[in-house]
Amino acid sequence: MIMSGSATGTAPKLSARNLAMTFDDGTTRVPVIGDVSFDLHAGEIVAIVGPSGCGKTTMLNVISGLLAPTGGEVAWNVEMAHRRPRIGYMLQKDLLFPWRTAKANVMLGMEIRRNTGAEAHNKARALLDQLGLHGFADHYPSTLSGGMRQRVALARTLIHDPEVLLFDEPFAALDFQTKLLIESDTVRLVRSEGRALLLITHDIEEAVSMADRVIVLTGRPTRIRSTYTIDLHPGAAGDRNDMIAAREAPGFSAYVKQIWRDLDVGRERAA
Ligand SMILES: Nc1ncnc2c1ncn2[C@@H]1O[C@H](COP(=O)(O)OP(=O)(O)OP(=O)(O)O)[C@@H](O)[C@H]1O
Ligand SMILES: [Mg+2]
Repeated sequence: MIMSGSATGTAPKLSARNLAMTFDDGTTRVPVIGDVSFDLHAGEIVAIVGPSGCGKTTMLNVISGLLAPTGGEVAWNVEMAHRRPRIGYMLQKDLLFPWRTAKANVMLGMEIRRNTGAEAHNKARALLDQLGLHGFADHYPSTLSGGMRQRVALARTLIHDPEVLLFDEPFAALDFQTKLLIESDTVRLVRSEGRALLLITHDIEEAVSMADRVIVLTGRPTRIRSTYTIDLHPGAAGDRNDMIAAREAPGFSAYVKQIWRDLDVGRERAA
């Protein structure tokens, strides 16, 4: 299996090397991550799909540094003295503060860093505009739809200019149409700034339409079952950011079927 598979040819931002994670509370040992290695480059979107409960969130927690792995290592910017990049995290729940307006939610991290000058406010407003929330900056979350709230959460994640984005199924709760739109917005904002995105999802179509590579995990203790480099040969240049066009591209359903089969093999083995 080809693991490096970089579209850019640059050194990886993130290298996960033989990651292993076993939870052990003294009485029970739960091996969750068996052995996982992959690279993530600037400007690249890598999606990770795997059976429910296989250890995807655990892996993201290990990568973000919230949990220490019991084996292997997470290496950042190996060729740049291991400088830790700015990381943006996004979860399935939008976790907005209900008593703060949309813009005040976006500004939260800036306030914590005491960066509340006009520039920061302008950036918050510009991001909300770019995400289709023009005119909603002063609205409270309770008056916004689920998709709008998730866009506010995306703006809050992007305002720090993260170099690496770690997403844990952030679009799972959205209706299909909203999901397609916010997927397209995310791809556009990630690719236009050369950010790297690691996207955990259980939605195979989302993975294939958004990602440059899709990694399929086995059940617990999880390992990499297969890796697919996605090439949908989109016609017009702008199509690459359009998640409806991606789903209509020739080859799309073949990837989806193959990945679905890989996941199904995992289920049989786990049963
Ligand atoms: N702190 C912990 N101690 C013991 N076991 C844990 C701990 N955290 C997670 N686990 C176990 O690790 C396994 C993987 O959990 P995780 O949440 O990483 O899976 P997931 O792939 O993200 O699942 P889902 O598809 O439901 O989001 C589960 O069986 C869970 O019970
Ligand atoms: Mg999870």
